Amino acid sequence: MRVVVIGSGGREHALAWRLLRGAGSAPLTDRELVVAPGNAGMARDFARWSHGRARCVPLAGAGVEGVVATAVAERAELVIIGPEQPLVDGVVDALAAAGIPCFGPIRAAARLEGSKAFMKDVCAKAGVASAAYLATGRVDEARRFVDEQARAGKGVVVKADGLCAGKGVVVCARAADALPVVEDMLGIGRAAPRFGEASRTVVLEDLLPGVELSVFALCDGTDAALFGAARDHKRLQDDDRGPNTGGMGAVGPLDERQGVPATLLGEVKQRVVLPVLAELRARGAPFRGLLFAGLMVEGDAVRVLEFNVRFGDPETEALLLALDVDLLPALLAVAKGERLPPLSLVSHDKAAVVVLAARGYPDAPEKGAVLEGLEAAERVEGAQVFCAGVAPDEAGRLVAAGGRVLVVGGRGATFDDALDRAYRAVDRIHLAGAQLRRDIGKSVRGR
Ligand SMILES: Nc1ncnc2c1ncn2[C@@H]1O[C@H](COP(=O)(O)OP(=O)(O)O)[C@@H](O)[C@H]1O
Ligand SMILES: [Mg+2]
Repeated sequence: MRVVVIGSGGREHALAWRLLRGAGSAPLTDRELVVAPGNAGMARDFARWSHGRARCVPLAGAGVEGVVATAVAERAELVIIGPEQPLVDGVVDALAAAGIPCFGPIRAAARLEGSKAFMKDVCAKAGVASAAYLATGRVDEARRFVDEQARAGKGVVVKADGLCAGKGVVVCARAADALPVVEDMLGIGRAAPRFGEASRTVVLEDLLPGVELSVFALCDGTDAALFGAARDHKRLQDDDRGPNTGGMGAVGPLDERQGVPATLLGEVKQRVVLPVLAELRARGAPFRGLLFAGLMVEGDAVRVLEFNVRFGDPETEALLLALDVDLLPALLAVAKGERLPPLSLVSHDKAAVVVLAARGYPDAPEKGAVLEGLEAAERVEGAQVFCAGVAPDEAGRLVAAGGRVLVVGGRGATFDDALDRAYRAVDRIHLAGAQLRRDIGKSVRGR
């Protein structure tokens, strides 16, 4: 089986790492993994242990055509798409036209992430609990929504409709602050909206209280298998201070000891995932792929904040590190339009991942700092290093090449074990000016 994974970050490294090993800890001989474009850190990792069965190749071109050309050149029997942009652009449809099975939703189903207005409409029609909202391109309509929120003493969240690489959401605890944000996003008084087409429409939402959880569901269009709940840490600094990032660490799977009731996954499946699958099927857009539900939990109430249509980063690294399951048969079945085989995706073991970010991240990440100590980190029992923004320099050393450089994980029987291993490993790595959070998983320590 020749599998091509598209993407270049820690998520793709973790997917390749897990898939190559099936349910075990040694690379299997029945499969070959290609990551395009991957990164130099992944390539180094593959070169050491995969016996040539995993490698990185450059993409054969840009955009959807580049992915198809790569899959054809590599004679892919299965393609797995990491990032959202190609999915929203219809890469799965294009691969299908070329006769290549691909794990991921078709363009019409990927709109769930590509348009927040579409996502809200699907939730409303499917009866899925989610924040009250207004989708509009008009300031006068927005003002009415904001005024009502203000009268009720509630906050407002302003979201650009389209993909904005995590920069299109502004949370306004005071409703009155939302209107200038709306005007800015729509580009009132300017030539174009702030995020171009992506913010020609905005979604205004009621600001919900609660704690956030991420739940991943492997979907075959009709049915789904859920991974254990995970929690990421989006702010740059300890105690959730500082700017938003792509994620500074994650823990999972969470259970009742960490305040996630045993019934939660079943409820999310019945009340969120299956109704959304049914609604999309009825719209002629069956969802086959990974549905990532971003949830807000308040007491018994579970409401959907957003859907992503692919594996999330860095939750994927944590969940896959903790899991001893061969995902390949399930991903292949879904890609071929077949039913999901029975599978259990909730591990007993726990995992934590800590992100090592470059100096200046997220605004202006510095490139070129040399990475040292990877081997020493990997010698920590139960630890695993996934490479994200890593490139070689002229001397062949690995250097930082992106904001999030490494995702360093630890696995253990408890979160305390997992966190201790992840931090012991990350503390053996040197990267000048590196930033990391010291409080990943603080809320689940000792529980
Ligand atoms: N209705 C809401 N109530 C409270 N917080 C929200 C709401 N919607 C979004 N947020 C916050 O904003 C973050 C980003 O919003 P999200 O919809 O996930 O957009 P994206 O991930 O595409 O930037 C969420 O993780 C959450 O912290
Ligand atoms: Mg989000």
